[in-house]
Amino acid sequence: MIKVRQIKAEDAEKYIKLYSKLDEETNFRLYEPGERKISLTEQAAEIENMINEGNSAIIVAEDRDELVGYLSAFGRSQNRVKHIVTIGIAILQSHVGMGIGTMLFKKLEVWAKEHNKHRLELTVMENNPSAYALYQKMGFEVEGVKKDSLLINGEYVNDIYMSKLI
Ligand SMILES: CC(C)(COP(=O)(O)OP(=O)(O)OC[C@H]1O[C@@H](n2cnc3c(N)ncnc32)[C@H](O)[C@@H]1OP(=O)(O)O)[C@@H](O)C(=O)NCCC(=O)NCCS
Repeated sequence: MIKVRQIKAEDAEKYIKLYSKLDEETNFRLYEPGERKISLTEQAAEIENMINEGNSAIIVAEDRDELVGYLSAFGRSQNRVKHIVTIGIAILQSHVGMGIGTMLFKKLEVWAKEHNKHRLELTVMENNPSAYALYQKMGFEVEGVKKDSLLINGEYVNDIYMSKLI
């Protein structure tokens, strides 16, 4: 059974394993395979700081003892932008199409309301219809296009800006 919950510092090793695998599996994310350089200690400290600070959240999906997906929502501390979080999401190939993305977003919205967040924002690559469909289903609207936002395997890709006000 899949469980979605807030990340804990003790998840650091499993979380590194998860995003390393995701970086290998999908081109729809920022990092190339092996590009991230963070130690276990640094990752655990980063999670701990994030939890203590309260402006950001990482929600993980767990299948038995393994992390199979996550949704990150990063916020800033300045008063004028404190109401915003920027979202990223990814699920392992073995677990896509099972409703996990939807579960992660539902959990995020509960956290966001509890933490007085008003604007959820994200970008999605123009060539990623699955993610675009998920965001539309969750109530996100298109705000604009950032042309040639990324360079992936020698090709420029546009990013679509989307947001949802809650
Ligand atoms: C995009 C992604 C997060 C979707 O997560 P998921 O757990 O598969 O999504 P769900 O099973 O909850 O599906 C929710 C909705 O997404 C859309 N969707 C999911 N997979 C889809 C597919 N292969 N084709 C079209 N729409 C799809 C549908 O609208 C679906 O709603 P429905 O089940 O009512 O039809 C997942 O495919 C993924 O991690 N992909 C690789 C990384 C990535 O692209 N991240 C996003 C970067 S912006």
